[in-house]
Amino acid sequence: MRKHNFNAGPAALPLSALEQAQAQLVDFQGMGMSIMEASHRSSEYEAVHNHAQELLRELMGIPDGYRILFLQGGASLQFAMVPMNFLGKDQVACYVQTGNWSNKALKEAKLLGETKIVASSDARPRRAPDVANISLPNNAAYVHTTSNETIEGLRLNQFPETGDVPLVCDMSSDILSRPVEVSRFGLIYAGAQKNLGPSGVTVVIIREDLLAKVPATLPSMLRYDVHVKANSLYNTPPTFGVYLTGLVLEWVKEQGGLHGIYEMNALKAKLVYDVIDESQGFYEGLVVPEDRSLMNITFGLQSEELEALFLKESKAQGFVGLKGHREMGHFRASAYNAVPVASCKALADFMKDFQRRNG
Ligand SMILES: Cc1ncc(COP(=O)(O)O)c(C=O)c1O
Repeated sequence: MRKHNFNAGPAALPLSALEQAQAQLVDFQGMGMSIMEASHRSSEYEAVHNHAQELLRELMGIPDGYRILFLQGGASLQFAMVPMNFLGKDQVACYVQTGNWSNKALKEAKLLGETKIVASSDARPRRAPDVANISLPNNAAYVHTTSNETIEGLRLNQFPETGDVPLVCDMSSDILSRPVEVSRFGLIYAGAQKNLGPSGVTVVIIREDLLAKVPATLPSMLRYDVHVKANSLYNTPPTFGVYLTGLVLEWVKEQGGLHGIYEMNALKAKLVYDVIDESQGFYEGLVVPEDRSLMNITFGLQSEELEALFLKESKAQGFVGLKGHREMGHFRASAYNAVPVASCKALADFMKDFQRRNG
């Protein structure tokens, strides 16, 4: 029996992708070995690698002039690689501060050069900062944004207009969950372990003209231009992770691509947010309604005792991953793409029942 998996990442994967991987585990397409055991220079692996790239390009509508990389080191390494590659000596790295993960990105950039927070909001309940009218310094190197703050459960609905200054986005926790206009961005990155596949793969989508900015002194593994030139095969890539990512991308396509997925995500999140909003204060959302994440639904109850009871009962009923992040406390239900509607319906029903018995 599969659990109602609301883990924040690594997180639920589509059952069909797991089953296909299972069926192909010991013999991939008649090779007499697992794809895990094949050389990353083999034609079989090359086909898997390129197919995953092509599917991502198709699903996200990634235009010509952008390259797709499969790297390692997680989104956390991208926090450092972005400034290492693009923050010039006399420039300022600009950050939109939305929560915990954008702060971590900013912290890394601070180690490497000058930074500026160009928009920020620390309101309670949480709300996204207004990014419509940010003003950038003349020597801005890039503007870094976080499309979805996984810990707070906050979504950035609007991206700033940055003119010629490259817009960078950490999309780790909502990539492929909604349509995005890739052409607005200079660079997008995401750890795979929420909506793309297993942990160990980091996707980077980079506009080719930015490659000219990479400083000559940067070591090879940290250079976007090296990885682009080698089609992410400069060193051994996370082959099994890329393979599984390809299977997940096929599943996304079967769901009607990003429009189909987005509709389903909106429906799933609404099931739970409606219970919160109709609970007359029994449940409290931790983010203002207009900035609520569709991926990470955060809420609290009125007392620590009630929260302890909610956690205990929800676990007993097969719900996994509901405890909030240690920085936020309370609860967080991560309803990524692969979490079935039925799991969100079951959670909503459980929450209503819990309120009936304890309200
Ligand atoms: C928005 C966001 N950025 C960055 C990270 C860090 O990712 P990684 O663990 O792949 O380094 C996470 C992880 O949860 C995240 O949610």
